[in-house]
Amino acid sequence: MMAPERSATMEEISALAKRRGFVFPSSEVYGGIAGLYDYGPLGAQLKSNVRQAWWREMVLARQDVVPFESSIIMHPLVWKASGHVDVFVDQFIDCRHCKHRFRADHLQSFEQCPNCGMRGTLTEPRDFNLMLRTNVGPLEDSASLAYLRPETAQGIFVNFKNIYQTARKKPPFGVAQIGKAFRNEITPGNFTFRMREFDQMELEFFVPHDGRDLDWYREWVAARKAWYSRYGVRPEKLRFHELSPDERPHYAQACTDVEYEFPWGWGELESIAHRGTYDLDAHMRLSGKDLTFFDEATKSKYTPILIESSAGLDRTTLVVLVDAYAREKTVDANGKDAERVVLRFHPAIAPVNVAVFSLARNKPELVERARRIEAELRSAGMRTQYDEGNIGQLYRRQDEIGTPHCVTVDYDTLEDATVTVRDRDSMAQERVASDALAAYFEERLPT
Ligand code: GAP
Repeated sequence: MMAPERSATMEEISALAKRRGFVFPSSEVYGGIAGLYDYGPLGAQLKSNVRQAWWREMVLARQDVVPFESSIIMHPLVWKASGHVDVFVDQFIDCRHCKHRFRADHLQSFEQCPNCGMRGTLTEPRDFNLMLRTNVGPLEDSASLAYLRPETAQGIFVNFKNIYQTARKKPPFGVAQIGKAFRNEITPGNFTFRMREFDQMELEFFVPHDGRDLDWYREWVAARKAWYSRYGVRPEKLRFHELSPDERPHYAQACTDVEYEFPWGWGELESIAHRGTYDLDAHMRLSGKDLTFFDEATKSKYTPILIESSAGLDRTTLVVLVDAYAREKTVDANGKDAERVVLRFHPAIAPVNVAVFSLARNKPELVERARRIEAELRSAGMRTQYDEGNIGQLYRRQDEIGTPHCVTVDYDTLEDATVTVRDRDSMAQERVASDALAAYFEERLPT
């Protein structure tokens, strides 16, 4: 009998992430640096699997989307045209007494510092541009000032003409990019939710003025909904919030925020927007270059309408981790009450999808057999891990890293060439012929 006990706190999830090698604070030996994280061996694979799942569906499975990769540092005028130089600002307030810094929109009142409780110590709100700066070339002056991109989208807009001409695409078609973005967040936090360096997964979909633009927008909202559901994100934890005209930017005709209910509350992980011709128009105005689409069929040109789906790869990875986390009451091998922590990752997302064990460490024939099976499954394309020792501890470790299946080589294997296969979620076990394992898992492990 198993029952979920209660929902986990973020502290429990981040402690597990650290303990099992998913996420570490960046530069930890020097005390870390706020808003920056490293992915450990399992976290790097988990994030890579989320990235692949997005890429497979948004690029590889579609004939109307092409891949793209732009540089992180672009001409500074890109950010002038996009509005980031002038309006990509947050306001901050400092406490003169305890030196704590707040985002102005996070404060309920400006009377008393919520950190130290002193009255009258808060400064006036000040503007702060969120773009990280650098200098390109040997001189550090205003002429060499450049920015680390705060979003990947602009690289696509400024290349629109290069892309459609070389890919020989005609609207409706899209351009997808996954890559780093940087924002000097005033208050990074909630683990990897608000970081200063993160990855975005963006799709910019260009459509003609044929009256179907809002249909395309709705189709993309539906496609993204289906994507989250395919990878098992609990529907009751996910909401698609359609912004009212007052909530969305003036140029957006429609906008939906995808939000997840984290342990601290609802947070945005993606936004899907109908952005009209705003972005291409802005670059045409400032650069003086033509970024319209020339339609050979009608011999006329137009600026396509843009539908954007912009998701955070780190936030989606965090959702996958939080959503998978369960603490359950169970019974151990001796029938005693026990508890287990299990990450119920979708098999395509789990960093390891088959673990192979030798029941004993010091029995060369078992070890050799288990290692051979592990190597065979690895070469058949599974993400495997070999381990040995106490079976209860081995299962507990694999449950905590979300491995869907464990294979155990024991003394019977030497007699009848079968192994025990254990299922993570039901904990059910069955004997399977070792030479049938690859086919057994191919059936059960979608890519
Ligand atoms: N091109 C549109 C754009 O960048 P955004 O809403 O500012 O839109 C899109 O960002 C997504 O990028 C967010 O929904 C979030 O998943 C991710 N993101 C934004 N800021 C982030 C941060 N500081 N840390 C982690 N992810 C972030």
